[in-house]
Amino acid sequence: MTMMMLGAVQLGAAAACVVVLVPMGMAGWHLSRNKMLFFSGALFITLAVCVHLTPYFPSVSDFVTSVSSVVVFDHRISCINLVNEIAWDVKPNSSIPNDSLEFYDKRWDWSKSPKLDACDFQKLPGSDASDLLNGSWVVVAGDSQARLFTLSLLNLILGSEADRMNSVRADLFKRHSDYNILLDEIGMKLDFFWAPYVVNLTNLMIDFKVKKSYPDVMVMGAGLWHMLHVTNASDYDFALRMLRSSVVSLLPFSPELSLNGPVTGSVSIKSPHLFWLGLPMLINGMLNTEEKREKMSDALWHAYDRALGDSKLLRQTGGPLLLLDIQSLTWNCGPRCTSDGMHYDGAIYEAAVQIMLNALLIESHQQL
Ligand SMILES: *[C@@H]1O[C@H](CO)[C@@H](O)[C@H](O)[C@H]1NC(C)=O
Ligand SMILES: *[C@@H]1O[C@H](CO)[C@@H](O)[C@H](O)[C@H]1NC(C)=O
Ligand SMILES: *[C@@H]1O[C@H](CO)[C@@H](O)[C@H](O)[C@H]1NC(C)=O
Ligand SMILES: *[C@@H]1O[C@H](CO)[C@@H](O)[C@H](O)[C@H]1NC(C)=O
Ligand SMILES: *[C@@H]1O[C@H](CO)[C@@H](O)[C@H](O)[C@H]1NC(C)=O
Repeated sequence: MTMMMLGAVQLGAAAACVVVLVPMGMAGWHLSRNKMLFFSGALFITLAVCVHLTPYFPSVSDFVTSVSSVVVFDHRISCINLVNEIAWDVKPNSSIPNDSLEFYDKRWDWSKSPKLDACDFQKLPGSDASDLLNGSWVVVAGDSQARLFTLSLLNLILGSEADRMNSVRADLFKRHSDYNILLDEIGMKLDFFWAPYVVNLTNLMIDFKVKKSYPDVMVMGAGLWHMLHVTNASDYDFALRMLRSSVVSLLPFSPELSLNGPVTGSVSIKSPHLFWLGLPMLINGMLNTEEKREKMSDALWHAYDRALGDSKLLRQTGGPLLLLDIQSLTWNCGPRCTSDGMHYDGAIYEAAVQIMLNALLIESHQQL
C-alpha cells in the first residue's frame, strides 16, 4: 500500500520533471548553436535537484518539482517584464568629426541588477537570429519606424553580405511602399507592410483572417502619422481599441483551439508572437517642419501615450501585444541619437530587434 502510493508519487514527480525537461531539451535543439541560452543558473540548480532527488525522496521531489515549475513560470513572466530594461552609454568619439551623427558612440546593454542578470539576456549574433527565425514568416507593419526596425532585423541576419544589404536598403526605402524578401537559406519570409495608420493595421489583420494564414511573428506600430494628420487622441484611442478587438477575435488564440486542432485545414493553430513598436519620444525643437512643431506637441504626445494604455492593446494592460519600448529606448539614448527629433539612430532599432529576439526565446520555449 505504502509502496504503491510512493510509486505513484514518484511517477508523478518523474512526469513533472519530464514536463519541465522536455521543452527545455527541445528549446535547446531548436537553438542548436547556443543551447539553453536563456536558462539562469538558479533554474539549473532547481532542475538538477529535481532530477537527482526523484529516485530517492519521492515526496520531497514531488514538492521540489512543483516548486520548480512555479520557478520556471515566474522566471519567464518576470523576464518578459524586464526585457525592455536597457541602459545607454552615449559618448563623443574624438576620432570622428564632430558635425557627424556618428560623432557620438551609442552603446547599449541590459541594465545590471541581480534580477536582470538572472534572465541572462544576450545580444544574439546573426547566426542565432537565423536559427531562431528559421522557417518563419515574419511581418513588420507600420510607419517609418517599422521600416527602420525591418532594416535592423535584416542587417543582423544579412550583415555579412554588404552587397545584398545595399540592395535591401534601396528597395526597402522606396517611399510609402511595401517590401518583401525571402531568405532561402533559412526559409524565412519577411513582409514589410506600409501601414501609417492604426486602421491600416486592423485591415491587415482582417486580410490574414480572410486568407486564413497568419505570420509566426508580427511586429506593428503606428501613431506619428495620426498625430500629424488627424491630431485627435480620442480618435487614436478608438482606432487602437478596434485593432485590439480585431487581433483578439481574428487570431487563433484560445487554448481550446490549440488543444482541439485546427478548425479549418490551413489555419495554423500556433498563436503568432505579436509585438507593438511603441512611439518614439519627440524632441519638439528638433522637428523639421513648422507644422510638426505646432501639432506634435508634448501634450499631444502624452495624450497618445495614454490612449495606448487605455486601449488595453498591450500585454501589460491585459492585451495581446508585447511592447517593444521605443519610448524608453529613445528617451534614454537622448537627443544625440536623432537628427530630426523623430527618427532615431540605427542603434535604437538594433536594440529593439534584440529585445524582440530575447522575448521570442523566452516565449518560443513557453509555447512548446
Ligand atoms: C570611435 O570611432 C571609431 C571609428 O568608427 C571606432 O573604431 C572606435 O571604436 C570608436 N571609439 C570608441 C571609444 O568607441
Ligand atoms: C566641434 O568642433 C568645433 C571646432 O573644432 C568646436 O568649436 C565645437 O565646440 C565642437 N562641438 C562639439 C559639440 O563638440
Ligand atoms: C533551417 O532549417 C532547415 C530545415 O528546416 C535546415 O535544413 C537548415 O539547415 C536550417 N538553417 C539554419 C541556418 O539553421
Ligand atoms: C491606410 O488607411 C488610410 C485611411 O483609411 C487610407 O487612406 C490609406 O489608403 C491606407 N493605406 C494603406 C497603405 O493601406
Ligand atoms: C476626435 O475623434 C473623436 C472620435 O473619433 C470624435 O468624436 C471627435 O469629434 C474628434 N474631435 C475633434 C476635435 O475632431
